[in-house]
Amino acid sequence: MSRKDLILLHSPRAIEEAVAGLARAIDADAGGRPLTVIGVLKGSFIFLADLVRKLQTPLSLDFVRVKSYGKGVFPGEVRLIKDVEIPLHRREVLIVDDIMDTGLTARFLMRHARKRRPRSCRLCVLLDKPSRRLTRIVPDYSGFVIPDVFAVGYGLDCNERYRGLPALYALNQPVPAAGRSRNG
Ligand code: PRP
Repeated sequence: MSRKDLILLHSPRAIEEAVAGLARAIDADAGGRPLTVIGVLKGSFIFLADLVRKLQTPLSLDFVRVKSYGKGVFPGEVRLIKDVEIPLHRREVLIVDDIMDTGLTARFLMRHARKRRPRSCRLCVLLDKPSRRLTRIVPDYSGFVIPDVFAVGYGLDCNERYRGLPALYALNQPVPAAGRSRNG
């Protein structure tokens, strides 16, 4: 697809290979122990769907939804909108998100999950944008490290646009204020 508003970051084939590699690494670390996989809505939905279909490890699945206040120029508070509904106590927990930017969402969710005393708690992100990091958190698994661009497609949006695109793109235009739920 050729579009003026988007610059290709990663093709569907490159994404598929990256997701397969992540699944192999997660399976190897799980060592056959069942996983409790937590998807972070909404952006992770396509990545999560592809990842769980590549994992060999048996798993339970649930979702969380968070909202960040003051993101963009002044990143700030993260609040839980929807919690998991399955137990995490003594489970091998894997949090799956589409992108780690400041790391505030990931830090909040790791702390939240660890309060339930899981056996382990790991974090898997498809995209890691370390240039924007405001925390020391490092993902256990990441598919691609990206520069400081506003990534869309494959679940990621700008003002709810582009989520359904099968590839990952950088937005080639100023990000409208309403689209800045995520940094860019
Ligand atoms: C995105 C992404 C992460 C978070 C990462 O969510 O899905 O959850 O931002 O940003 P951070 O590292 O700076 O905390 P977004 O707020 O865009 O919501 P969405 O997933 O519903 O699109």
